Amino acid sequence: MKELAILFVGGGIETLPGIRLAKSFGLHVLVSDRRPDAPCMVEADAALIANTYDVDESIAVAKRYHREVRPINGVMCMATDVPLTVASIAAELGLPGISVDSARLVSDKLLMKDHLVAAGLPVPWYAAVRSLGELRQIVSDRGYPLVLKPVDSRGARGVLRLLEGIDLDWAFFTSKSFSPTERVMVEEFLGGPQISTESIAVQGEVFTLGFSDRNYEFLDRYAPNIIENGGDLPSVLLAADQKSICDTLHDAARSFAIVNGVVKGDMVLSDGKPFIIEVALRPSGGYFCSHQIPLNTGVDLVAKAIRLALGQPIDPIELRPRCNRAVCQRYFFPEPGWVDAIYVPNWISQDSDIALFELRVSPGDVVPKPISHPARAGVVIATGKDRADAKERAERAIRETVITTSSDSISSSSISLTAN
Ligand SMILES: Nc1ncnc2c1ncn2[C@@H]1O[C@H](COP(=O)(O)OP(=O)(O)O)[C@@H](O)[C@H]1O
Ligand SMILES: [Mg+2]
Repeated sequence: MKELAILFVGGGIETLPGIRLAKSFGLHVLVSDRRPDAPCMVEADAALIANTYDVDESIAVAKRYHREVRPINGVMCMATDVPLTVASIAAELGLPGISVDSARLVSDKLLMKDHLVAAGLPVPWYAAVRSLGELRQIVSDRGYPLVLKPVDSRGARGVLRLLEGIDLDWAFFTSKSFSPTERVMVEEFLGGPQISTESIAVQGEVFTLGFSDRNYEFLDRYAPNIIENGGDLPSVLLAADQKSICDTLHDAARSFAIVNGVVKGDMVLSDGKPFIIEVALRPSGGYFCSHQIPLNTGVDLVAKAIRLALGQPIDPIELRPRCNRAVCQRYFFPEPGWVDAIYVPNWISQDSDIALFELRVSPGDVVPKPISHPARAGVVIATGKDRADAKERAERAIRETVITTSSDSISSSSISLTAN
């Protein structure tokens, strides 16, 4: 792959494994980000400064580099939800990628749901909510539980489970505050196991490599926010249920005309039937694509995504899982407040089954209230001889790492503000 250049749109910490992998392939690696000090910038061969959500600005910097410095051969994102920016740059520079139309559809949850319904695919009941009055009417017509969410945000920001007794006034304005276009929607809250999936389409054929049982043990603790605490692989769902979820996702990928690309799914199995919460046309965050899937299957999904971005062929045999190792991911949720001290036991760095241990806070930092996924304070990914063993190791690492915080001099409102 020597001499080829690849652009990663977004240089956050969870993109680093992709940058390193691309560099190990001998690629010239570019990173675009609004922040010159984004975590990937120090390891990139060149930094392009642009707001990743600003499609025109991102196209302009990519085009300038492409014409004036050296040609860009591929563009992708990883763990950053910017499919529209990626697809638009690809279209502008004539690079491989998904269509701009499909990227636009998945960048707006109402458009996405309308599209999925038109394609005959199962989604929870949903509706746009244009005013507080409309929300009250929907609640009175349909009853609880519902989910209120911004139409165009991510990372569970402003995603609120509405139950009896919730302050609808607060919920409406809070959720709306996370939408860049100030639009919210409501959905029926579907009970049942939640699943994260990740698939790769190659020449129109879709292969699902990632299938993780999401852990929502803190659904009540952080209510009304819906905050996930990691996930476990392999799934404990029945093979028939796993198949129906995968089949639904494959139909969704086809409905978006994804010939070559990555498709990530948020799925629920409700009353035994699969439902699509959302589909993201890009590699996942949370180290799912870079750690959990390769550890579980032995298949390096990010390597394949890089090759797809460069338009290189992939033999389906390469996508066949080689193993089914148990993997458990859990997050740190220290008490909100200022971090006074952190203690990490020695065994963690010596245990080869701790595949990833990452703290995102240091003494002096503020731990915010966990009102979104990026606000979680750190993550552990562990392997084990079976699911219980991997879970025990991950939970032990979380339990025995002590993050002491104090909230004496900080009001709860200032804590939650830092998570925005
Ligand atoms: N209708 C729903 N029923 C059950 N859970 C839901 C529903 N909508 C959202 N959730 C949960 O909230 C999470 C975040 O919502 P999502 O629509 O995926 O927003 P985001 O783009 O912020 O990830 C989902 O992954 C899912 O776990
Ligand atoms: Mg989601």
